[in-house]
Amino acid sequence: MSRNRVTRRQFLTYTITGVGGFMAAGMLMPMVRFAIDPILQSKEDGDFVQTSKKIAEITEVPVKVDFSYEQTDGWYKSEVADAAWVYKEGDEIIAISPVCKHLGCTVNWEGNPEHANQFFCACHAGRYEKTGVNVKGTPPLGPLDMYEVSENDGFLMLGKKIANTHSK
Ligand code: FES
Repeated sequence: MSRNRVTRRQFLTYTITGVGGFMAAGMLMPMVRFAIDPILQSKEDGDFVQTSKKIAEITEVPVKVDFSYEQTDGWYKSEVADAAWVYKEGDEIIAISPVCKHLGCTVNWEGNPEHANQFFCACHAGRYEKTGVNVKGTPPLGPLDMYEVSENDGFLMLGKKIANTHSK
């Protein structure tokens, strides 16, 4: 008889340990997967959002284009309303964020009759050129962000926010 023979007690210990470990892994895996699920989700930052603005209707005068998109924050999904000031510069379409770079109020095109051809923030009289570049001597210290733009079936699509390309 071999001296390495497994005893009944050892066999039961190995079997119970193995089955117990297998069952524990089966219970823990879904919990771990659930906990890190948001990390595993692919980012959708590069996606473009369809707007109801026809490309043919865009002129050299900025107009406000409202749009919305679904945002996922962890397990919470919500509909986010946003807007952009959109105009044409030659053949290029420019989309400017309306969020003031001073303290985050909303800027309006020609919001102050004394400053034609500029964006105006009523909160602290911040001003920006049509390109979104901040006017020196007013509260904002940086230019308005821009949006990536694209076209789908004649309609304007807006992508993620990018740094203003008109600033030096
Ligand atoms: S928030 Fe726009 S100027 Fe202050």
